[in-house]
Amino acid sequence: MPASLVIEGGTPLRGEVWASAAKNAALPLMCASLLTDAPIVLENVPDLADVATIQKLLEGLGAEIGDEGSGRLTLRTERLRSHEAPYDLVSTMRASVMVLGPLVARSGRARVALPGGCAIGLRPIDLHLKGLATLGAEIVLDQGYVEARASRLRGGRIHLDPVTVTGTENLMMAAVLAEGTTAIENAAREPEVEDLARLLEKMGAKIHGAGSSRIEIEGVEALGGARHRILPDRIEAGTYLVAGAITGGDVTVRGAIAHHMPAVLEKLEEAGAILEVGSDTIRVVGPDRPRPTDLVTAPFPGFATDMQAQMMALLGLADGESVITETVFENRFMHVAELRRMGAQIVTEGNRAVIRGVPRYLGAPVMATDLRASASLVLAGLAATGTTVVSRVYHLDRGYERLEEKLGKLGASIRRER
Ligand code: EPU
Repeated sequence: MPASLVIEGGTPLRGEVWASAAKNAALPLMCASLLTDAPIVLENVPDLADVATIQKLLEGLGAEIGDEGSGRLTLRTERLRSHEAPYDLVSTMRASVMVLGPLVARSGRARVALPGGCAIGLRPIDLHLKGLATLGAEIVLDQGYVEARASRLRGGRIHLDPVTVTGTENLMMAAVLAEGTTAIENAAREPEVEDLARLLEKMGAKIHGAGSSRIEIEGVEALGGARHRILPDRIEAGTYLVAGAITGGDVTVRGAIAHHMPAVLEKLEEAGAILEVGSDTIRVVGPDRPRPTDLVTAPFPGFATDMQAQMMALLGLADGESVITETVFENRFMHVAELRRMGAQIVTEGNRAVIRGVPRYLGAPVMATDLRASASLVLAGLAATGTTVVSRVYHLDRGYERLEEKLGKLGASIRRER
């Protein structure tokens, strides 16, 4: 039986909590280590299932990974032993496709399983492949695998539509070793893309404009080693802010960077939370009852789709009607049916969810379907009257480090049951 979380709701959370380093930065940063034979030292690496998966993948490709404790990993791939990302790893974690760019750039060859769909939508990788083809790679699909080959990639002009985060990261990692200059237009502007560019620059890459929608990369012959501290997780930080708000508590999140989450902070304030923003801390004081507000998910700096489910849990308790429109993924409302089991009144029509706030949730057994959906169920459970049991917590372990310990320190009654 997979583990569950048992939550006794109703306690306002109080105190301080640290945001760990960002999962969605750690994964591309680890993949970037494939671009050099020199060591890459990453500090602050979060202890997460997805990090363990990428570690296994990189080791299969020839990386030696030393764990020096306190979250410090040294990754070194002196020689590539394989150029294949197998289906069992790619199917457990789509981010595995981010070895494609570095492998082709370094060795001229990659074979990566096609990820297929997942709970939140179809999630194709056509733009990753088109971009690589623009850089001169020959792409062949063979028995569920993508094979990419190039003697040496050459710079080119790539336009991404829609904006893709891992696509931008994959292509940036491919372009750093290409011959000539690459422009990535309509690039993702997420802070994690900027963090990857920072590491690549330390390794010797020439990148301009990361963090804006046009990134220019001048290819270099080779990259060297570097040391890098991973940026804090804005989605984890946002989740703890909602935990403070939804329980009517008073929570300070350390390692929360306000300009990494402008839209989430704006919506929390519209929902009646009082925020105090410091240089790397944010304090939230929850309202007696949230106010309704509408939101539309969008690429950064818009409202993050990765915070949509958590915000829905909060708005489900608002004094009035809210509308959430999901524009990034076509099927990211799996949490709605589970929130309804706790008494929420939410109806969905296509990519819109209409939420009629109820005064309280009632604890219930619920099932997690994906990482952020699971987080929303935990948040609803913290606010609910009675006991909530969230099953399939392995989804949460992919992206939240020591969740029950951190929430427990804030006063939540939450325990893991196997
Ligand atoms: N898309 C395409 N073609 C492509 C690539 C993407 O049509 O080749 C579409 C997708 O189907 C989607 C949209 O573009 O509709 C945006 O997807 P994107 O590629 O940006 O998503 P991703 O890079 O696969 C990352 C995060 C996700 C996060 C999204 C959106 C990582 C490892 N994952 O995924 O994080 O939801 O960006 O911000 O960075 C999570 O942490 O729970 C998570 C799912």
